[in-house]
Amino acid sequence: MHRLTNRHILIGITGGIAAYKAAELTRLFKGVGAEVRVVLTDAGAEFITPLTLQALSGNPVHQSLLDPEAEQGMGHIELARWADLIIVAPATADFMARLSSGMANDLLTTLCLATDAPIALAPAMNQAMWRDPRTQQNLEALLSQGVNIFGPGSGEQACGDTGPGRMLEPTQIMQACANLIAAGPLEGKRVVITAGPTREALDPVRFISNHSSGKMGYALAEAAAKAGAAVTLISGPVALATPKGVQRVGVESAQEMLDASLIAASAADIFIGAAAVADYRPVMVADQKIKKGAEEVMEILLTKNPDIIATIATLEPRPFMVGFAAETENVIAYARSKLERKGLDLVIANDVSQSDIGFNSDDNEVVVVGAGGEIAMPRASKAALAENLIALIAEQIN
Ligand code: PMT
Repeated sequence: MHRLTNRHILIGITGGIAAYKAAELTRLFKGVGAEVRVVLTDAGAEFITPLTLQALSGNPVHQSLLDPEAEQGMGHIELARWADLIIVAPATADFMARLSSGMANDLLTTLCLATDAPIALAPAMNQAMWRDPRTQQNLEALLSQGVNIFGPGSGEQACGDTGPGRMLEPTQIMQACANLIAAGPLEGKRVVITAGPTREALDPVRFISNHSSGKMGYALAEAAAKAGAAVTLISGPVALATPKGVQRVGVESAQEMLDASLIAASAADIFIGAAAVADYRPVMVADQKIKKGAEEVMEILLTKNPDIIATIATLEPRPFMVGFAAETENVIAYARSKLERKGLDLVIANDVSQSDIGFNSDDNEVVVVGAGGEIAMPRASKAALAENLIALIAEQIN
C-alpha cells in the first residue's frame, strides 16, 4: 500500500521545457493509485497539451480561473479543498515570484492561496535565472511561508548552459511528495474486512441471500487503505468497484468466505466482519434446477453455517476483532452479547429496523460497543462513518 494511494494530488504545470516531464509525473501518481487533477497555466499549455494530461490523469484539465463551464464542474475553491497536496512541476521563476508575493492572477496561484493542503514546487529554469538574487529572494520568501521546494538539480540544461535549475526527475518528485504526506494511523498494519452478502445455493439457479449491498464494508476498506493499511476485502457478490489499493477476494457462500478469511487473517492485525453472512444454508444443493411439482408447500431443510468471525477470534495469535451486529430490537443488548459470545474486541451495533440506514442505504448510524462502554456515532454517510470507525479502531490498537 503506497502512501499516495487514494490521495488527491493536484499537479500544477507552468511554462517551462520540463513541462513534458509532468506527463510522466502524472502517470506515476496514477500508477500508485492517487487521484490526480491537473492545472495548466497558459504558458504551460505552450509546452504540453491538455489532451495528453487529461488522458493520463483521467480527469478534465483545469486551465482558467474565469471559465463558467469548469466552475460548474469543480469550482476553484472546491478544487483547493479537494487537494491533499499541490505539486507545481515545473515551477518557473515567474511562478515563484507571483506565488511568493501572494498574487492570485491565475487559477494556479489562486488555488495555492485558497488551499490548506501542503504546497510543493519543483523549480525548473535556466541556471542564471535560478542564481539571480531576485529568484533567490523569492525562494527564501516561499520557504519562510512553508512552501516545500524540491530541487532543482544541477547539470546540463535544455538551453545549453550547465548549472543548477534542472527539474528533478519525476520519480524523485513523487518520492518527495510521498514523504510530505503524513503517515496514516494504520501504516504498516494488515486489515482484513468481510463485506456484502453471502449466497447459499439451493440449485444451480437459486440461492438464499440478503439485502447487504457491501457499501459499509467497502467504505471501511477504502478508509483503512487511506489510513495506510494493507487491506484485503473478502466480498460476497455486490455491484461495487474495488476501492483503490485494496486487494479484493470474491466469494459466494459463507463456507467460501470462511476459507478466504482463514487464509487472510493468519497475517492480519485487524479483522472487521461487516458482511451479512447467512446463518444457515440448505442441507441439500440440487445438481439440476428444482422443478415445480404438484405440492403447494415446499420445505427446505437448513443447516447452520460456520461462524466466520467467531472462528477467526479463536486463532492464536488473533487479530484485533471487530464485528457488526445488525439488529431490529434490543440493539445494544444483543450487540453486547455478541461481543462476549464471539470473543470480539468491538461490536458496531447497527439498528437495521430503519430503512434509511443499515442495509443497502448510503447512510448509517451506529453505536460502538466495547468492554469499556459505548460510543454513539450519529447519522452520516457510510464513507464518513467508516473514516471515524477506522480512526477509533486505530486509536484502540495503537
Ligand atoms: O452492506 P450494506 O448494505 O452496506 O449494509 C451494511 C450491513 C447492515 C450489512 C452491516 O453494517 C452489518 O451490520 N453487517 C453485519 C450483518 C449481520 O449479519 O450481523 P449478524 O448480527 O448476523 O452477525 C454479527 C457478526 O458476526 C457480523 O460481524 C457478521 O459479519 C458475523 N458473522 C455472522 C454470521 C456468520 N455465520 N459469520 C459471521 O462472521
